[in-house]
Amino acid sequence: MDVRSSRYHEAYAGWQRDPQGFWAEAAADIDWFEKPKAAFDPNAGIYGRWFPGGVCNTCFNAVDRHVGTGRGEQAAIIYDSPVAGAKRTISYHRLLTETQVLAGMLRDLGIEKGDRVILYMPMVPEAVIAMLACARIGAIHSVVFGGFAARELATRIDDARPKVILSASCGLEPGRIVHYKPLLDEAIALCRHKPATCLILQRPQAEATMIAGRDHDWARMRDHALVHARSVYDCVPVEATDPLYILYTSGTTGRPKGVVRDNGGHMVALKWSMKYLYGVEPGEVYWAASDVGWVVGHSYIVYAPLLHGCTSILYEGKPVGTPDAGAFWRVISEHGCVALFTAPTAFRAIKKEDPQGKLLATYDLSKFRTLFLAGERADPDTLIWAERLLNIPVIDHWWQTETGWAIAGNPVGLGMLPIKHGSPTVAMPGYDVRIVDEASREVGANTMGSIVVKLPLPPACLPTLWEADERFKEGYLAEFPGYYKTADAGFKDEDGYIFVMGRTDDIINVAGHRLSTGGMEEVLASHPDVAECAVLGVKDALKGEVPCGFIVLKSGVNRPPNEIERECVALIRDKVGPVAAFKLAIAVERLPKTRSGKILRGTMKKIADGEPWTMPATIDDPAILEEIGSALKGKGVGAKTG
Ligand code: COA
Ligand code: AMP
Repeated sequence: MDVRSSRYHEAYAGWQRDPQGFWAEAAADIDWFEKPKAAFDPNAGIYGRWFPGGVCNTCFNAVDRHVGTGRGEQAAIIYDSPVAGAKRTISYHRLLTETQVLAGMLRDLGIEKGDRVILYMPMVPEAVIAMLACARIGAIHSVVFGGFAARELATRIDDARPKVILSASCGLEPGRIVHYKPLLDEAIALCRHKPATCLILQRPQAEATMIAGRDHDWARMRDHALVHARSVYDCVPVEATDPLYILYTSGTTGRPKGVVRDNGGHMVALKWSMKYLYGVEPGEVYWAASDVGWVVGHSYIVYAPLLHGCTSILYEGKPVGTPDAGAFWRVISEHGCVALFTAPTAFRAIKKEDPQGKLLATYDLSKFRTLFLAGERADPDTLIWAERLLNIPVIDHWWQTETGWAIAGNPVGLGMLPIKHGSPTVAMPGYDVRIVDEASREVGANTMGSIVVKLPLPPACLPTLWEADERFKEGYLAEFPGYYKTADAGFKDEDGYIFVMGRTDDIINVAGHRLSTGGMEEVLASHPDVAECAVLGVKDALKGEVPCGFIVLKSGVNRPPNEIERECVALIRDKVGPVAAFKLAIAVERLPKTRSGKILRGTMKKIADGEPWTMPATIDDPAILEEIGSALKGKGVGAKTG
């Protein structure tokens, strides 16, 4: 690979010279009802706004536009569900019709431009159609991942205050049906805000009980809308700066943050990324093996591939067990995918089941050009294993729910740069990434620091948090004035390659899923027998990290500690959801603290991870760390002593 053959440096320098010109040119790939007055207004919003005065519609660009330009018969979505035993191909033409009909149904339910609609849905085509139908009428969707429990859903309902919730009778996990409807009913019961209507998709695997007056049957209403031609034929014009969606993500407490995504900037950046970062052309088959409930699903199952006129795979299954570790190879070969985007965890799971990659031999992967990994740190072992097995470039790229697309990556479409294992490569045009110390001073090459992005953020990044401007400013912009705090720590090497080493806050990444240990601590603290607690992310060979909760019982509690530990595990599953993968609660006599009372989480984590550690000078009572080590050993976790 010759670094000089890449146009990356030229593109990045072009953006640095004229950021507005760069994005104005990219904006020419979008159909606008009214062209923006400028690419950027530095005086609008909190740090400026992209494409002020632009009038557009995201659904129009993702669907209608392609029907108008001859892609009507091309597959827009290929739904492939090994868990439901179903496959369905939806052409752009069919997607348009379905979106128009659902938009009509939402209108009938009283949804207007700017209203919020929550989706609590499994990975079925109706979820994609629902997102697009909201976009069509200018409603703001908020998708809640199906692995979250009722309480998490309730928090999001109360924050977004939707008029309507779209859900389904169930989700399908291998060997288990997840009944969504009782979770939805429970969430609504917990909420202060009561949505007027729920539209429920009855799946053949489970029938949901409906609440008269509030719940409507999706299929029946659709049939009615079809008969009565209740469709929204034209897309509603919205401002480029109007919100397209809110996506809640873990914050440092149990209260999630509502990341706002606008319409115009989002389309421009995502469309650019398909060509220049992912190196994919319109008409090609692109697959993001994630879930529509995560940002990867929003950006790269739904919006980006459709904006680019690709065929997007909607896969309801797992990398292993549905039915085996050859599932990904089967999908790639059967549908002719040119690129796959997933989390490293998925590949760790495949590697564990089929270390020699024997299952690959039976599939034709000749069209498959590139594997993209993101969502968590890509450990070099897994990356090298995938490279050797597939014999194609394996690209790590780094981003966050907040940014909506990659901050750093290896731009395949501009010509790849040499890969350095352990690094997601370089900053994408639009991002001026710096490594700084606590005083916001830039540090030199190969020196660890906080990773920040000089303001303004590029198009598609969050302009603010939903109805929480101050929280946005405090959480992201206050600590390093003039910069956006990514809350990741890392360094840049002498070639400008970025290395992302971990979070600076209490967010952990479990199987590529972002979770708040602070949120879990709030739940554990609510157990009547728990006096105090600490939740840490500890290393896990499959999921990267898994949460581990230390609990100190209230004095006078004389029930067996393992009984309370089991209750704590059940409590997190019940309150946060199975996705937390919280399986380890350990009762200890006391928690190690500094003399000022701060829990020594860093040292506890090192002990749990079996890494060398030193006794902190500020520790209150050194004996406690030995107690923690023994408690972990008792559960088969950790190794090294101080
Ligand atoms: N609805 C309901 N429950 C769900 C769910 C959903 N949409 N998604 C996951 N869950 C449940 C799982 O069934 C599991 O429950 P269990 O404790 O009863 O087994 C629990 O949440 C934890 O899920 P997960 O962490 O995904 O573990 P897993 O053992 O089911 O699967 C992997 C492990 C590695 C196969 C899977 O995590 C994976 O494919 N991850 C990588 C891809 C990905 O989705 N990344 C997201 C961002 S790109
Ligand atoms: P999410 O908002 O769920 O996408 O999670 C974002 C966080 O995941 C980031 O802040 C990082 O901590 C982590 N992350 C995502 N991609 C990578 C990557 N390629 N390398 C290292 N960490 C990553």
